[in-house]
Amino acid sequence: MAFDHYGRKIHYLRISLTDHCNLRCVYCMPEDIVFRPNAELMQDDEILLFARLFASLGFDKIRLTGGEPTIRAHVVDLVRGIVQTPGIRTVTMTTNGLLLAKLARPLAEAGLKRVNISMDTLDAEKFRRLTRWGSLENVWEGIYAAEAAGLTPIKINAVVAADYNREDVANLARLTLEHPWQVRFIELMPFSGPTAFQTGQMVTAAEIQAGVESILGPLEPVNGGELDGEARLYRLPGALGDVGFIASVSQPFCVACTRARLTADGRLRLCLLREKEVDLLTPLRSGASLEDLRRLILDGIWEKPWGHALADGVIPLNRAMSEIGG
Ligand code: 5AD
Ligand code: SF4
Repeated sequence: MAFDHYGRKIHYLRISLTDHCNLRCVYCMPEDIVFRPNAELMQDDEILLFARLFASLGFDKIRLTGGEPTIRAHVVDLVRGIVQTPGIRTVTMTTNGLLLAKLARPLAEAGLKRVNISMDTLDAEKFRRLTRWGSLENVWEGIYAAEAAGLTPIKINAVVAADYNREDVANLARLTLEHPWQVRFIELMPFSGPTAFQTGQMVTAAEIQAGVESILGPLEPVNGGELDGEARLYRLPGALGDVGFIASVSQPFCVACTRARLTADGRLRLCLLREKEVDLLTPLRSGASLEDLRRLILDGIWEKPWGHALADGVIPLNRAMSEIGG
């Protein structure tokens, strides 16, 4: 079991399979970003070894992220390998959905349980501007393919940026009237890269909720207003799905954090919004034993920071979001 010194049990690992992406969302990366060479990224056998190591320390839940995880070569085999790792109970993925039309079924057959798909607007032209070239049509095909493959319940992530999609939140929330999906609105978080954009365009969860309610009427709390993971859930009267708000910046959920992250280049990232990391890949490549690596992980987790200090102006600048994967 891996505990931090605040007594939080850490058992959820988010693995970034690659920092590369087939989109360039304006709030995530500059258009001319240079990705890491593949040799610097964890190789397939290294990812599977880390999965086994973390599982041996009580980690039972894994989410695959990116960049864009579906563009990683052999992603289906990787999923299968991680699913088959003793101790791992659920493997999920966060994706932009572009490639799911092809991959949803093989991924589901490999044992993937669910997907979170990013879709920030229902306006195709705005979507293209936000992602710099993405086709919303492909995302829709991906969502329906994921649903047909049983990667459910479908969760749709929408990051809200003031001058881009603030007016689109009600239309996104409206999807839950007819679909049993969870549409989750996420506050924009600041990282290295488009940092000024991220801080300047942030809309709080409370403001997003007010935007939804001003058009669709009051939302009803689900679970008595308790957090479901990182999201506070609501429902439109009579809806099939839920509307969630992820207030990572304005109302952090650090007290209940159970997660750690593995960056695409094999660093254990202890908090999304703190720079502290432990290099695992370099020791692995220089011959560290499994026992040495276990010790590095446990010591790192023990020192997991309590939470972020964005309110005090402390912004993590050593990484872009696309290297950590959210
Ligand atoms: N703040 C919040 N969410 C972000 N994402 C990407 N960059 C940021 C950011 N700066 C989201 C993507 C996707 C998920 C992986 O993280 O839109 O939904
Ligand atoms: Fe790619 Fe996701 Fe970043 Fe958009 S937010 S550029 S889809 S990694």
